[in-house]
Amino acid sequence: MGRGDLPVGVEEILVSQEALARRVAELGAQIGRDYAGRSLHLVGVLKGAVTFLADLARALPLEDVTVDYLAISSYGRSTDTSGVVRLVKDLDEEIADRHVLIVEDIVDTGLTLVYLRDQLAGRGPASLAVAAMLDKPQRRRVDVPVEYLGFEIPDRFVVGYGLDRAGHYRHLPYVAAVRP
Ligand code: IMP
Ligand code: MG
Repeated sequence: MGRGDLPVGVEEILVSQEALARRVAELGAQIGRDYAGRSLHLVGVLKGAVTFLADLARALPLEDVTVDYLAISSYGRSTDTSGVVRLVKDLDEEIADRHVLIVEDIVDTGLTLVYLRDQLAGRGPASLAVAAMLDKPQRRRVDVPVEYLGFEIPDRFVVGYGLDRAGHYRHLPYVAAVRP
């Protein structure tokens, strides 16, 4: 372990495990109210959104929830988005006429979400919205609506709660800054 109890390379905790849990519970309640009486189809963006989706799904006071996943890749340096987004794994199920909630780990430049919203909107869902755990508003290059947001964070490279740097640190129960 490195500094204090933090793993080597991890500089500082930005969002604690407790704060994440509280915020996910609030978002779950809010989404539950907004989709009351409807079936909700969660679309998780692999791999980073898995942790958030697992917690959010269990916080939803809804009777009928389904889950599917897709995977995206963006070319370029590992810690900076190149702007070219590609679907590397598509959904297993059709989404036409379903209420779809895209679940994403973090909104950075916004390019991934613009691409995803556009792709999925073209398939004729009954409704389409986004839940993102983290947002780095200073990095935004394109405007994109995010209906449910966990936390705004400063322009630092973060890991944990599903987020990685080169595949590592996804298992950390908090969100922390690392050297990029
Ligand atoms: P965007 O297209 O620039 O909004 O990129 C969003 C994607 O970049 C996220 O889904 C993450 O996979 C990745 N990303 C952006 N910022 C970070 C970060 O600070 N840590 C880890 N991954 C990040
Ligand atoms: Mg991602």
